[in-house]
Amino acid sequence: MKPEIGISEKNRDKSIKVLSVLLADEMVLYVKTRKFHWNVSGNSFMEFHKLFQSQYTELEEVVDAVAERISKLGGNAIGTLSEFKELTQLKESPAEYPEQKEMLKELLSDHETIVIQLRTEIEEFSTKSKDSGSTDFLTKLMEQHETTAWVIRRYLK
Ligand SMILES: [Fe+2]
Repeated sequence: MKPEIGISEKNRDKSIKVLSVLLADEMVLYVKTRKFHWNVSGNSFMEFHKLFQSQYTELEEVVDAVAERISKLGGNAIGTLSEFKELTQLKESPAEYPEQKEMLKELLSDHETIVIQLRTEIEEFSTKSKDSGSTDFLTKLMEQHETTAWVIRRYLK
């Protein structure tokens, strides 16, 4: 059954498209953060091992929330690795195992990319699509990524 929630079908489809790309980005960042949790070494190993674990645990919940937002708007949440890979805007580095500092820099860059992307989309969602639910959801999510980016940045100073 189609949701009758006061957003036109065209705008719901637009929201679903944007949220699907976001879902792919969050999934790729989740997997990358797990990879770094598994492979980090050197000084402060346990600090970063635990930090990355707390970050991927948060991202796991984010992935779920984005997928369910798509579903609430009447869309199908993509759930295959090939679709995630096709849609994501983030870059993966197969067979590369960077040093601690490089791991932090890469994660920071991905979180900042998502923040910048979300900031643009929030504007669209609120002014053009009238999708206030997604606007609120994405604003909170943007702030969550800003917090993670801030934490990572503190390690790099
Ligand atoms: Fe673990």
